[in-house]
Amino acid sequence: MWGCRYYFTKLWRVHVIILTSIYISFSYSNFIYDFYHSKTKKEKRIERSAEFSKEGDRVEAGAVELYREESYRQYFSRTLENWGMAEFMDLEAQDGVRMAWNVLPGTKQEANNCVVPVSAIYTPIKPFPTIPVLPYAPLRCRTCRSILNPFSIVDFAAKIWICPFCFQRNHFPPHYASITDDNLPAELFPQYTTIEYESPGDKSSSVPPVFMFVVDTCIIEEEMSFLKSALSQAIDLLPDNSLVGLITFGSLVHVHELGFGHIPKSYVFKGSKDVSKDQLLEQLNFFLKKPKPSAGVIAGVRDGLSSETIARFLLPASDCEFALNSVLEELQKDPWPVQPDQRATRCTGTALSIAATLLGACVPGSGARIMAFVGGPSTEGPAAIVSKNLSEPIRSHKDLDKDSAPYYHKAVKFYDALSKQLVHQGHVLDLFACALDQVGVAELKVAVEKTGGLVVLAESFGHSVFKDSLRRVFHSGDSDLGLSSNGIFEINCSKDIKVQGIIGPCASLEKKGPLCSDTVVGQGSTSAWKMCGLDKATSLCLIFEIVKKDIPDATAQSTSNQFYFQFLTYYQHNSGQMRLRVTTLSRRWVAGPGSIQASSVFLFSLIDLVDTYLCLGCVHGRKRKSERESLGITARVLGFESKLQTVHGIVLRHDNLDLIAGFDQEAAVVVMARLVSFKMEIEAEFDPIRWLDKALIHVCSRFGDFQKDSPSSFSLSPRFSIFPQFIFNLRRSQFVQVFNNSPDETAYFRMILNRENVTNSIVMIQPSLISYSFHSGPEPALLDVAAIAADRILLLDSYFTVVIFHGATIAQWRKAGYHHQPEHQAFAQLLRAPRDDADAIIKERFPVPRLVICDQHGSQARFLLAKLNPSATYNSDARVPGGDIIFTDDVSFEVFLDHLQRLAVQ
Ligand SMILES: *[C@@H]1O[C@H](CO)[C@@H](O)[C@H](O)[C@H]1NC(C)=O
Ligand SMILES: *[C@@H]1O[C@H](CO)[C@@H](O)[C@H](O)[C@H]1NC(C)=O
Ligand SMILES: *[C@@H]1O[C@H](CO)[C@@H](O)[C@H](O)[C@H]1NC(C)=O
Ligand SMILES: [Zn+2]
Repeated sequence: MWGCRYYFTKLWRVHVIILTSIYISFSYSNFIYDFYHSKTKKEKRIERSAEFSKEGDRVEAGAVELYREESYRQYFSRTLENWGMAEFMDLEAQDGVRMAWNVLPGTKQEANNCVVPVSAIYTPIKPFPTIPVLPYAPLRCRTCRSILNPFSIVDFAAKIWICPFCFQRNHFPPHYASITDDNLPAELFPQYTTIEYESPGDKSSSVPPVFMFVVDTCIIEEEMSFLKSALSQAIDLLPDNSLVGLITFGSLVHVHELGFGHIPKSYVFKGSKDVSKDQLLEQLNFFLKKPKPSAGVIAGVRDGLSSETIARFLLPASDCEFALNSVLEELQKDPWPVQPDQRATRCTGTALSIAATLLGACVPGSGARIMAFVGGPSTEGPAAIVSKNLSEPIRSHKDLDKDSAPYYHKAVKFYDALSKQLVHQGHVLDLFACALDQVGVAELKVAVEKTGGLVVLAESFGHSVFKDSLRRVFHSGDSDLGLSSNGIFEINCSKDIKVQGIIGPCASLEKKGPLCSDTVVGQGSTSAWKMCGLDKATSLCLIFEIVKKDIPDATAQSTSNQFYFQFLTYYQHNSGQMRLRVTTLSRRWVAGPGSIQASSVFLFSLIDLVDTYLCLGCVHGRKRKSERESLGITARVLGFESKLQTVHGIVLRHDNLDLIAGFDQEAAVVVMARLVSFKMEIEAEFDPIRWLDKALIHVCSRFGDFQKDSPSSFSLSPRFSIFPQFIFNLRRSQFVQVFNNSPDETAYFRMILNRENVTNSIVMIQPSLISYSFHSGPEPALLDVAAIAADRILLLDSYFTVVIFHGATIAQWRKAGYHHQPEHQAFAQLLRAPRDDADAIIKERFPVPRLVICDQHGSQARFLLAKLNPSATYNSDARVPGGDIIFTDDVSFEVFLDHLQRLAVQ
């Protein structure tokens, strides 16, 4: 059944690839990347499949004539990129995973030559509408503990299954006795490579969610009123059973006792000094009713605390709404006097530490979130980021670079310790930073990221970026965030591969084993990670290392050509139940010389065939003839052979073809983006541009087709064709060009990059641009200054900002109010369309992006111009009438490509 499906999809891929590969040279126009309505890509793909099969017939009918047709050629080159990627997206739709290499390089040496590491972007609790949730415990292999999965080989007669990871033979337990070929348990269905288990006995473990609000009061009255109204809205939306606490801070920290009837009461702590757990519990009168235990760790009701005392600080939302709202209403701006040449005394670090310690004592191990609302820089206590003296500026990237930021390392160290405490307790830190100035996101990053917290950065508590994002956090229904807690992520895989680490929102549990590489990237030295907080979108980036040394010999190949991963995610579903999600994946190693793929079922064997056609002149291609025939590829297709030989007369290495077929350029650039960001933070003297350029040149000379020293002969397979453009845009992105932003902004952008899936990350790296005009419907436009025209509207989505840009003529008409006149309906519609599309983007994104509406030549237009390829600059003569130029000395993509081709062919 599987084989069939892939057979058919691939069969018309054959046409597509053959036709396009003839025409796709390495030229600029082929780099249009269609993000238009990426949300509906799947539907489009389905439509397109129908179109394709029609087109397929046409191809077969009169191929030679047709592929000369200009329009046909364009049609294919336009859809090609999507098509190549669609396959990887289908795999993602089944398992929530994208891999940079879907065919694994065969040896350590070969993997190093591939430059982009073997890696996976995995979304552990991505929602799948049809995922089965099995009401029983999983069956595990008795040797390696991996879980029964569709890749296990089952002997129905003997009631035995063979573990694909360690080849152990396992007996089925008695309750599997009825298993037969056509009576399979769901976990063995071939399509359920991702499945969930929920043991029914676990109800007792369902504890209410806990929210501890930590609120900055050193903000001006106006901000204070914005914040109060946002918070009281949030409190309305809290689930009734959740527990709520409140801490406010300025120069002092106030822990509010909400369960004290109608008189607001709070306990006050000095902000300048960290408070120990004993001091905190003592001062909060925790031991009045129940004496302090003389030994052992105090942890919740079970160990040392009375529930009445806990309930003074953490109350069910339904009981304390009134108390909470009245405290908020009374909340005053911090009364501490601030001199005009001074910053406010703000002890963010102490307040967060007190919040963490209080939660650690009261509700250890339960899914609790500290939600910090911070309106300015911390200036007091152990985690100050700047002095109170206003004439001393807050650290910039330059200061960090020169290591002249005196507060930075101390504050980071403080938050690193706090993150360890929170991870140990299983609690999350969410950060809402709203100020014109920096508040210390860069220092707080470690604590937010390791606990899987949410982060929102806005310039005011009154801005929609903050208000709407906060509402989304508590919103329930279809577009909720799916906040979950108490996650543990584990991995196991076949031998010859190791895990270097994860770049993403999680913390290493230091569970060392044979799987761990000595080279650590991100959170490493472990095969298990804590994810205190995770949601529907949380995506981890796993970096692997191939450790296979020898040239694989043919006999070993035939037994272990397939490679397996198993990802286990234990988490507390928002129903309160503990669940286990199991994803088991299979990919294959690059086939060794002489080996023949035994099975046609596996995903990429057909792509190989397609690629084999491209090198029919080469020896390896001929070897596969029998395979080709057995798969029934028809003579019609083979009719293209002679054409191909002449057009594509370049001989490629066989393993290259395998690797190329499995290369997912989108996933690859997202991995490179996370890696380069990580290296910039960790490695002193790291030069990101040089590193990216070297990597790209290496990839191009390894996988490109060219004659040595002939740049004009250079071309790339469609699988790689957008990769240079992605890297070009990554070089120009906020992740690499950090000097245009503050350290807080950079930390923010990177935290979001590090938690998003491939599709969203691509938008951050290479924004999408759609053009609207009277001449044509909305269509994707090249991310280039040439896209600007007086009679066009452009919609730029750069993830954090959505820009609607009116060309000069459009802006004029709009200012004249034409769209209000009945005879200019069409113009009104033209104005409306990008607004609707922008709203659709904003509605489903978290954090909510900033919307900028601007006109050509207006000052806000910079939000668009900064993202465009500077093909026309003030010092070039290629000016389009009605178009625009960019004042920059950056190289354009054409120049970049030119250099790349020259260097790659050397
Ligand atoms: C992972 O699988 C290997 C076999 O490939 C096994 O030896 C090992 O014990 C497993 N590790 C874990 C942590 O389950
Ligand atoms: C603030 O800093 C400036 C320059 O760094 C210095 O001249 C001034 O004396 C400082 N003011 C106080 C109150 O410390
Ligand atoms: C990526 O994440 C976004 C936001 O969570 C989601 O809407 C989208 O469907 C995801 N894309 C894929 C391909 O999973
Ligand atoms: Zn096993």
